[in-house]
Amino acid sequence: MTDDARVVVRLESRGPADTKRIGKAIGDRCRGGELILLKGPLGAGKTTLVQGIAQGLGIEGPVQSPSFVLERIHRGRLQLRHLDLYRLTGAEALESGLLSEMGDDDVTVIEWGERAEGLVQPDLEVRIEVTDEALGRSILMEAGNPVWQSFLLEVQGR
Ligand SMILES: Nc1ncnc2c1ncn2[C@@H]1O[C@H](COP(=O)(O)OP(=O)(O)OP(=O)(O)O)[C@@H](O)[C@H]1O
Ligand SMILES: [Mg+2]
Repeated sequence: MTDDARVVVRLESRGPADTKRIGKAIGDRCRGGELILLKGPLGAGKTTLVQGIAQGLGIEGPVQSPSFVLERIHRGRLQLRHLDLYRLTGAEALESGLLSEMGDDDVTVIEWGERAEGLVQPDLEVRIEVTDEALGRSILMEAGNPVWQSFLLEVQGR
């Protein structure tokens, strides 16, 4: 991400419901073609955030971690491509083709986005930090373009 496009917003989450609410706001804003990278340690709440995004996309079924299968597809208002790169290196992620199949009607959300660093240009990057093992998380979001910058300014002001 270039420096002149930097808008970073930090939201505090006090439990999974907060994280899902933030995810839903992201999902609500998606129009298709988005690429969203999620970063943060094991158990940070990445999948929990994707459950909220799925809600915003009108997806009704359960959203589970794709860490064993690499990719899960869900259909809603748009198609959610939920990827998890935990088991791959960056080079493997590239070779797999998973990172080069982004459709205009897809919303691609990548857990363990650290592995895709420098390989893709995300619209939104979300980093989840554990502030308290039980329930506390800091959710830091950075936008890659003006559309998502204005989204961040909006959620910041809520
Ligand atoms: N504020 C919070 N936001 C999200 N999850 C939270 C929060 N507080 C506690 N949790 C708990 O942390 C866990 C997060 O699990 P989740 O599978 O979403 O993490 P993950 O980052 O996807 O993990 P992995 O690295 O294994 O993919 C859940 O058990 C959830 O209930
Ligand atoms: Mg996960």
